[in-house]
Amino acid sequence: MEVEISKKSHLKGVVNVPGDKSISHRAIMFGSIAVGDTVVKGFLKSEDCFSTINCMRKLGVEIEIVNDDVYVKGNGMYLNESLDVLDAGNSGTTMRLLSGILAGQKFASTITGDESLRKRPMKRIIQPLSMMGAKITAVYDNYAPITIKGNTLKGINYKTEVSSAQVKSCIMLASLYAQDVTTIEEPYLSRNHSELMLNYFGGNFESYDNKVICHPVEKLHGCEVLVPGDISSAAYFMVAASILPNSEILIKNVNINNTRTGIIDVLNKMGGNVEIIEEKVVNNEPVADIVVKSSHLKGIDIGGEIIPRLIDEIPVIAVAAAYADGTTVIKDAEELKVKESNRIDTMVSQLRKMGADIEATNDGMIIHGKETLHGATVDSYNDHRVAMSLSIAALKADGSTKIKNAECVNISFPDFYSVLNVL
Ligand code: S3P
Repeated sequence: MEVEISKKSHLKGVVNVPGDKSISHRAIMFGSIAVGDTVVKGFLKSEDCFSTINCMRKLGVEIEIVNDDVYVKGNGMYLNESLDVLDAGNSGTTMRLLSGILAGQKFASTITGDESLRKRPMKRIIQPLSMMGAKITAVYDNYAPITIKGNTLKGINYKTEVSSAQVKSCIMLASLYAQDVTTIEEPYLSRNHSELMLNYFGGNFESYDNKVICHPVEKLHGCEVLVPGDISSAAYFMVAASILPNSEILIKNVNINNTRTGIIDVLNKMGGNVEIIEEKVVNNEPVADIVVKSSHLKGIDIGGEIIPRLIDEIPVIAVAAAYADGTTVIKDAEELKVKESNRIDTMVSQLRKMGADIEATNDGMIIHGKETLHGATVDSYNDHRVAMSLSIAALKADGSTKIKNAECVNISFPDFYSVLNVL
């Protein structure tokens, strides 16, 4: 699908963003290994989350989808062997978190994904799961497809090389099956939805700064999960309303967990006008409405502990920086190279086509902001966050911009273009 977007004068209105992707995946997985029923309300019906549902169904879990709600009949800790290969599609979260569960099962499973996922690093989970006792073989040197032969697991003390919630959550899930305590330490704290939700399901996880202590439990208990809106999806509209003059939008019911709100901190540091209102707590997670008004953004330096708090928002932050006054330097973000595309290369090459002054560095990018960009034909490289970020860049660019391979927005935000049209 090719989408054409022309320059817009302003954005106004109220936006409801779809359910949080990380929370939707976790609710299905944790509900599957719990005892009893789990109801997931406001589930994100997107390709990535359907990959999780399909894998869980192959492992014998009964899952029913009724409108925006999903009903999961928990199997308890032990699932049923799947003779089919499990397909995680484009979803790193499905592949890595599910591997933690498979490591503790009484059977072997093979899990793979699409062309993009088969190029993403899996050593980061193969290593700790093997230390815990799982037998894992990869056809091609630490890449999917991988076969995981479950085993009786032992607890480990593990320091992760990268701050990755997928790696941390994978080890946490395996730790449920271990005979003793597991500790995990990461360089900086990554998103902590697993810690919050597993405890909500009856798990026993203690968090201290960038450490988690995982105590095995006999069972988890099914419960009701209300999925809040995804701040990563809200980020596109936050940037759009910030860069387009005379704009004001209200984004309703967004998850504002501190491990995810780097985008708000960065926009406000750039001189943006982003305000959090009506804060409340739902299922251990903070949720609020967000008001964004247009502003004159200026370039800033971004790096260090904030990177895991905004890792998925860097493509759209690059767009904000391309229109800001002065220079933005993004560093410590090597992880961008192993996302759904190499996001340093894809964003730099495509924003350049629109006239942006942007260069790639080894661990990020340097962007010299400009008053305006111009329309061009750009490509998403089948990366949903690249497609949506380039669409936001197009709203302020002179002329019109064509975005090739835009159907990949279905990975996380199938209604993205209709929501944008309403605004
Ligand atoms: C996710 C963690 C992040 C993020 C991804 C979702 C999660 O990946 O980029 O979109 O749900 O745990 P990493 O943990 O690899 O950084």
